[in-house]
Amino acid sequence: MNPADLSARIRHPALLERIVAPEIAAAMIEDGMIIGMSGFTKAGDAKAVPIAMAERARTDPFQITLITGASLGHDIDRMLTEAHVLSRRMPFQADPTLRKAINRGEVMFIDQHLSETVEHLRSNQLGPIDYAIVEAAAITEDGGLIPTTSIGNSASFAMLAKKVIVEINLSQPLGLDGLHDIYIPGKRPTRAPIPLMACDSRVGTPYVPIAPEKIAAIVITNEIDSASSVLPGDSETSAIARHLIAFFGNEVASGRLDLTLQPLQAGIGTIANSVLKGLADGPFHHLRLYSEVLQDSTFDLFDAGKLSFASASSITLSAPYAERVFSNFERYKDKLVLRPQEISNHPEIIRRLGIIGINTALEFDIYGNVNSTHVDGSNMMNGIGGSGDFARNAYLSIFVTKSLAKNDDISSVVPMVSHVDHTEHDVDILVTEIGLADLRNRAPRERARLIIDNCVHPSYRAQLDDYFTRATARGGHTPHLLEEAFSWHMRRKATGSMKA
Ligand code: COA
Repeated sequence: MNPADLSARIRHPALLERIVAPEIAAAMIEDGMIIGMSGFTKAGDAKAVPIAMAERARTDPFQITLITGASLGHDIDRMLTEAHVLSRRMPFQADPTLRKAINRGEVMFIDQHLSETVEHLRSNQLGPIDYAIVEAAAITEDGGLIPTTSIGNSASFAMLAKKVIVEINLSQPLGLDGLHDIYIPGKRPTRAPIPLMACDSRVGTPYVPIAPEKIAAIVITNEIDSASSVLPGDSETSAIARHLIAFFGNEVASGRLDLTLQPLQAGIGTIANSVLKGLADGPFHHLRLYSEVLQDSTFDLFDAGKLSFASASSITLSAPYAERVFSNFERYKDKLVLRPQEISNHPEIIRRLGIIGINTALEFDIYGNVNSTHVDGSNMMNGIGGSGDFARNAYLSIFVTKSLAKNDDISSVVPMVSHVDHTEHDVDILVTEIGLADLRNRAPRERARLIIDNCVHPSYRAQLDDYFTRATARGGHTPHLLEEAFSWHMRRKATGSMKA
């Protein structure tokens, strides 16, 4: 493309001279560097330079620490893993090839609360970042970066890095300009309160302010974000949504909530997406989202007239929804804002706004401890993501899961979780397709009774009831049979099923 045609995208004329091929930019990365890369749940990721890095590593091996916002699209984590480029990776991933390398111990994965990474960078507990590689829709006259479909950690990466490589993605509409609100908290301990008082507050700038001299290279790309891989809901996710609608209805009847509820957060994946979509069937209106990722369900709620505003750090859609939303973006734009992930997930704001957090568990136990990350206590699935940021600080911390996994070989409700991401202290409500357990103000023995009666699949209920009854006979505030606590997981390993 003629550089003159890029003037709407690169508005600082001197920067036009820094346009290079992806291979040239990839060659700037040296062995041992710490790289901060854009990308959050497949949205707004750098798409050309990381692929050129993977190609280069085949003949010129090098390794890096890669920090992103969250998961990447375009198989980038797979390609970087296969080329052995990743020595360390944080704070989240969702790629099957990388997952296997992590579980083989080949890539050191730091599974981190998503709000925390840039706090560690800013306070020199991590870093420094050698290069930030970030996607942008445009560069302003002053060198400011206008992000695309996610912000994630990119703003702080670009501001803190020694050098920045920018990918200008021509497929990302210029209409994204104005969507973002970049606010970076000050240094501690003299930091001022973050002045964000409502989901739709704008407290920062619509671009990432950086000195143009830091931009080492600009690469032009033209490839859309990878499509989200969430599956359609099913009868179980519908049942989970119905239980939640009934629960919220009771909260409204008891005067604790009104029909606009409190601002909602919904986690990643198929279940959270379907459950949020299911809220369209309830009597609620003027809902607000203060979330991390906006999935397809956000736009179903907008179109159903149920949602009045959505704040997040990324927009990650399936292919048909991406087509629908981005070809009508002006219809939604004034009801949306994207923020850095430390702001979308900030404990101070989650607590202040009184968020209702809905996240997904792999398994939970009879006392309400939740495992969202580790299969059989050892094998990493994706990571804790933002679920801990929200669960610890929410007005209501809700976890959902189907009661069974892998047909009926696994019960998602077990005597003791094999790994703890969210302790019982951070969990208010548990929901499966079987029913809902309201754990608020309940002691462990009461919690166990509610969970066994309401959430466990009938094919495992007697088995779990038997465990609890025998544990209770032995005594304790939180009764357990330690020698049997993981027997369900061990039985599945030995026989293929948790069934006794
Ligand atoms: N033991 C072993 N595997 C289990 C399981 C269990 N108890 N429960 C579910 N699984 C498996 C499923 O069988 C499925 O496997 P498959 O990919 O081979 O089909 C996989 O886990 C995903 O489960 P699914 O039921 O499809 O749920 P999901 O797509 O909604 O994802 C999580 C669920 C927990 C993996 C996902 O939500 C996650 O990674 N959460 C942690 C991060 C997070 O919560 N972020 C939120 C802030 S935005």
